[in-house]
Amino acid sequence: MSNQLLKGKRGIIFGALDPNSIAWITAERVHEEGGTFVLTNAPIAMRMGAIDELSKKTGAQVIPADATSLEDLQNLVDQSVEILGGKLDFVLHSIGMSVNVRKGRAYTDQKYDWTQKGTDVSAMSFHKVMQTLYKSEAMNEWGSIVALSYMAAQRVFPDYNDMADNKAYLESIARSFGYFFGRDKNVRVNTISQSPTPTTAGKGVKGFDGFIAYAEKMSQLGNATALDCANYTITLFSDLTKRVTLQNLYNDGGFSNIGVSDAIMEKFVEE
Ligand SMILES: NC(=O)c1ccc[n+]([C@@H]2O[C@H](COP(=O)([O-])OP(=O)(O)OC[C@H]3O[C@@H](n4cnc5c(N)ncnc54)[C@H](O)[C@@H]3O)[C@@H](O)[C@H]2O)c1
Repeated sequence: MSNQLLKGKRGIIFGALDPNSIAWITAERVHEEGGTFVLTNAPIAMRMGAIDELSKKTGAQVIPADATSLEDLQNLVDQSVEILGGKLDFVLHSIGMSVNVRKGRAYTDQKYDWTQKGTDVSAMSFHKVMQTLYKSEAMNEWGSIVALSYMAAQRVFPDYNDMADNKAYLESIARSFGYFFGRDKNVRVNTISQSPTPTTAGKGVKGFDGFIAYAEKMSQLGNATALDCANYTITLFSDLTKRVTLQNLYNDGGFSNIGVSDAIMEKFVEE
């Protein structure tokens, strides 16, 4: 399905690791909608990942960048503007990682070096990306910047660990930087709060299978898939949402506003 909603638009897509990645599926959809872009990921992820396949499929060049490195980000932004032949209209930040989660360290027993690393990668990188774009005057007017979040920023999901705090910080950065980006450059900044999705990052969370099954039964429309997230992002990159900004937008089948569903109650009601 293509409506050429992004025809003539240029951008950067962070975070496509493998075909399950939300960024991967978003890149495919942006390509279908007529957008052109540069793909980027951390140098280490490129060695493991299959990004070349996506690059061939979408005609996008790949520029490695560690999203915590201002030097890498400056190089990425400069090169992207040159390769794509002009300023950017959209940027997707689809990056998350907690060392504490990866190494099974409990929230009540953090190794703070790891906590800091996770915060830098998962949240502060969003500030760094935007500051680099802002100072470089790299965004076109009415451009759109999106980062991906999760509802653990608002509510407790114990196994989400320090990523919950990182997502709260990420969403706050979207609002704070979004103010300046809007005021000075007419650029909008939003986060999408996505259902649990079976990706490398998602599956890293302890008890993920139970977690995703529970969310599926709680949401009257079911969990939003990676493709649903990609499609939502397309609307936010398009000119149809020009004055949507500073928002945290739920793409979760209704989960965030549900107290309880019939499907969950069935498990507890005694006949
Ligand atoms: N999967 C879920 O359940 C879910 C739910 C809500 C939100 N999200 C968010 O969606 C985004 C994408 O995650 P995903 O689920 O597609 O998993 P993923 O593992 O496919 O993507 C995470 C990406 O972050 C990249 N990354 C890690 N460190 C980096 C660094 N230093 N510099 C640049 N890139 C780096 C990884 O290489 C990877 O490509 C993340 O922000 C994640 O928190 C995921």
